[in-house]
Amino acid sequence: RHPGWPVRLGPLAVPAGVVELRPPRLFDASTWSRIRIRERSHLENWEPTAPGSWEERNGVLAWPSQWSALRGLARRGQTLPFMILVDGVLAGQVTVGNVLRGSLRSAWVGYWVDSEVTGGGVATAATALVVDHCFRNAALHRIEATVRPENTPSVRVLTKLGFREEGLFRRYLDVAGGWRDHICFALTAEEVTDGLVDRLVAAGRAQRA
Ligand code: ACO
Repeated sequence: RHPGWPVRLGPLAVPAGVVELRPPRLFDASTWSRIRIRERSHLENWEPTAPGSWEERNGVLAWPSQWSALRGLARRGQTLPFMILVDGVLAGQVTVGNVLRGSLRSAWVGYWVDSEVTGGGVATAATALVVDHCFRNAALHRIEATVRPENTPSVRVLTKLGFREEGLFRRYLDVAGGWRDHICFALTAEEVTDGLVDRLVAAGRAQRA
């Protein structure tokens, strides 16, 4: 079994509500699909290019294969996939991916949040919870996040959490139909001995619920 999985994280109260993270479940299909179809214009610009229409990729029938792929990767220790709940209702996902062990002990983090609850600290809380978990319980040393320079809200999430800007990756990821430049942000474990959740609480941005 790989360290730090499966697990539930939170609760953490932010202006949008009480944030909790749990592993994906097969029965998330209808709620996940309803949000993803409704949120197309909010999400499409920022997500990897993939074959098939948005409706095909985000319909109820698309979830079982995504869920089982995530579950398989999580069991093998390559991914830590979480559903974000706000006041008990599914409102997004935060994923720690490409977990590399050995002398790298590194991974990336990525997230999306339902636009009905954006601007209220949800992505920041979710990322703080997973980063603390990765450093304390999943034996990781470095967490990276790459973001398009145009994605102001996501850049803000990372800078609020104290992620360090490391550089600009040119034509780095195939996103929304083209090779897009991305800013690389990162944190290593030594930089967060206090914990990102503690920092949010100290800054008055979150409260332990
Ligand atoms: N200009 C300036 N700041 C903005 C703007 C804007 N247009 N829009 C939002 N913000 C600020 C908010 O005010 C807030 O900062 P504050 O707390 O200082 O007020 C911050 O951006 C957002 O922080 P949260 O509220 O914690 O984040 P939220 O729950 O709203 O989720 C997210 C942010 C995930 C980027 C959401 O907008 C989303 O799902 N976007 C579409 C998908 C996406 O872009 N995912 C990220 C891809 S990159 C990656 O995963 C590393």
